[in-house]
Amino acid sequence: MSECLNEYKIEDLHTPDLTQDRLEIRNESYTAPGMRELILEAGAESIVLLENDGTLPLDPHEMIAVFGRCQSDWIRMGYGSGGDLYPSVPVSLIDGLENAGIPYDRELAEAYLSWASLPDHKADPGSWLGWNNHFSEMQVPDELLNASAERCSTALIIIGRAAGEGHDCTLEKGSFYLTDEEILLLTKVSAAFRHTVVILNLCNLIDLSPLEMLRGKISALLLAYPGGMESGNSVCDVLFGKTAPSGKLCDSIARSYQAYPSSGSFGDPERVVYSEGIFMGYRYFDRFAPEQVLYPFGYGLSYTEFQIRPETFQYKEETVQVSVTAANTGTFPGKEVLKLFCCPPAQGLEKPVRILAAFAKTGELAPGASETLTLRCPAQYFSSYDEEQHIYLLEPGTWNFELNGIPAGSFTLEKKVLIREASPAMMPDSGLKERILSSLPEEIRPEKTAGEKPVHFSEVIAGTLSLDGFISSLSVPELEALTRGHGMMNSSYGPHGNAGAFGGIIPELNEKGVPPIVVSDGPSGIRLGMHTSQLPSASALACTWNTELTETLYLCLGEELRHWGIDLLLGPGMNLHRDPLCGRNFEYYSEDPLLSGRMGAAAVRGIQRSGKAACIKHLACNNQETGRNTCDGRISERTLRELYLRNFEICIRESATLTVMSSYNKVNGIWSHYNYDLFTTILRNEWNWHGTVLTDWWMQPSVSPEFPALRDNAYRIRSQVDVLMPGDMDHSAEEYAPDSSLTETLGQEGGITLGELQRSARNVLNLILNLKKPAF
Ligand code: BGC
Repeated sequence: MSECLNEYKIEDLHTPDLTQDRLEIRNESYTAPGMRELILEAGAESIVLLENDGTLPLDPHEMIAVFGRCQSDWIRMGYGSGGDLYPSVPVSLIDGLENAGIPYDRELAEAYLSWASLPDHKADPGSWLGWNNHFSEMQVPDELLNASAERCSTALIIIGRAAGEGHDCTLEKGSFYLTDEEILLLTKVSAAFRHTVVILNLCNLIDLSPLEMLRGKISALLLAYPGGMESGNSVCDVLFGKTAPSGKLCDSIARSYQAYPSSGSFGDPERVVYSEGIFMGYRYFDRFAPEQVLYPFGYGLSYTEFQIRPETFQYKEETVQVSVTAANTGTFPGKEVLKLFCCPPAQGLEKPVRILAAFAKTGELAPGASETLTLRCPAQYFSSYDEEQHIYLLEPGTWNFELNGIPAGSFTLEKKVLIREASPAMMPDSGLKERILSSLPEEIRPEKTAGEKPVHFSEVIAGTLSLDGFISSLSVPELEALTRGHGMMNSSYGPHGNAGAFGGIIPELNEKGVPPIVVSDGPSGIRLGMHTSQLPSASALACTWNTELTETLYLCLGEELRHWGIDLLLGPGMNLHRDPLCGRNFEYYSEDPLLSGRMGAAAVRGIQRSGKAACIKHLACNNQETGRNTCDGRISERTLRELYLRNFEICIRESATLTVMSSYNKVNGIWSHYNYDLFTTILRNEWNWHGTVLTDWWMQPSVSPEFPALRDNAYRIRSQVDVLMPGDMDHSAEEYAPDSSLTETLGQEGGITLGELQRSARNVLNLILNLKKPAF
């Protein structure tokens, strides 16, 4: 199936802005109690203060001038499956100023509004294959600008950048680079006003060198990633000092695009060699190019100051534990983020200078107040992977730890410590066939006592029939139906605009009591054809470094899932920010696996505490959108295990995640949705995980190189990618057409086995039991 066809259909189904006629947005809305407040708080905590000469916080009684069309077209979210939400009350910056009763230059704001409402100037999202990263800017007439400078001493300039799924940003003006109009606006406004505050309202990082040149003229600079439906209120809370900024960068910001280690290999639709290996993000900059960093990973200013005092350090049972006191020594109430980095010994395998090992955030501390927190990290999270011996280990030498740049303790190892044994995996491997054959599952045979009595899933729920007893009674067509979705998005089993259903999706399974599992995108809210809450994007949440707040936010989202009748949210997105141009970076957390893993775990715990399921995605390496169905990421096993899989592993370990979604791309020559090593050897056998794996929506046809008789769905089931979503290989299918690829070799020499079908059925039915869904 060509990339083009795939993308074309996804566009049809995914983009309400473009498909209003296909998927009407109904006039129903729901916001769970407390949701607005949580979104407001998380949005405010996500804002990163990059520069401040003392201009911020602003005086709420003094009139300000606001430049940039995104003042009313505020970028609350990116485009695509992770972004198209229709909150009933979206708050722009101008709305936020209104709500807070802040005086602003109305003449200027009205000029923007009437210009932006002209048909030619409307904020146009573009199309699926061509999202607009930037909306045209009004050229402010000099008279208007100067008159405004007469009325106000402070100007805000909003620089906006959108992005979306299926389309990467580009090295062009209006995408990674500022446009000439934006540079002119920055230059003119900063020359005319006493204070100029620039707000970067971005889905993706951009080139900040023009702002560097205006250093001294720009009084304050803030980064506001898409903050969800309360964005405008969140920004005002920070600008006017209701909340001190406490956001910290989730990525390193480099001086130029070329400074990023991925820049030479990003974007090839066919093959991307991860030549930087484990040296990605700050791991690269620390070691090879510290001078190329404009703002480092973890950076962010506040309106107050903190004194950090490490209290105790312990390394016991392969876990580091540090307690630390943070005291607010400034004059403004605020929160501080505590970041514990591990600095490994240099000998042996090449290692990064530092590795984030743990982090925590204080509560709001009044001036003079302090709080003591304990940070923990299993050595597994900072261990190295030795590709020759297939082990995770700590090498001999002194392992130093630092907390916000202050030495926090160390331990010394005389000899290497084995942390965990692994199996060789994910590399071209001649032994894969034998490894698969030697661990084929046994067939589940009917229990002797079962006889001819019809079985019902309610008996499994009640504990009077074993799950295996139930599975042994399922026919091949019933087992087949458990390995795919209902056939298309917007399943009739779920509410309007859902992303599909699986589980009990044929009448025969329903008669046996198996209920359907209804899914919806995710991750930043529930994407339906209704008005639903829009949460801050993943990058924004990562900048809060606040796992407790994130967990509470997603617990509240669980209540909204319950309201809408959705069982499973397709999120959070876990892929790492390998490159600043990736079109889905806003849906993912960070360049760092620990920050990404722990933020993801917080979101999953929140959803799962509410009795619903989360689906972390996209395993593995969906790190660019260009050729996302065709691209083959060539990556060393060590790099995978220390970066691109470690975030998923941390999330699963710390949240007992129920489901995982495979990625569209290939890793080392194999499409993820066929990758036995990824989904069986590592995910299930090494990580001891027992959940359900879904494909990303639709998949690529292919034949197994090891077992030429197996193709498509049989090839997928052998790797334990349990469910093809939304149900059919054919994107244009209106109804599911039975696909023979799964069962055509059943029972034949070299074919798929009944035991394998039953194993995936068990993975799916277990999820229903975990969700405590009543029988159909
Ligand atoms: C995206 C997934 C999404 C799915 C369902 C795919 O195109 O990659 O992240 O969950 O569609 O909408």
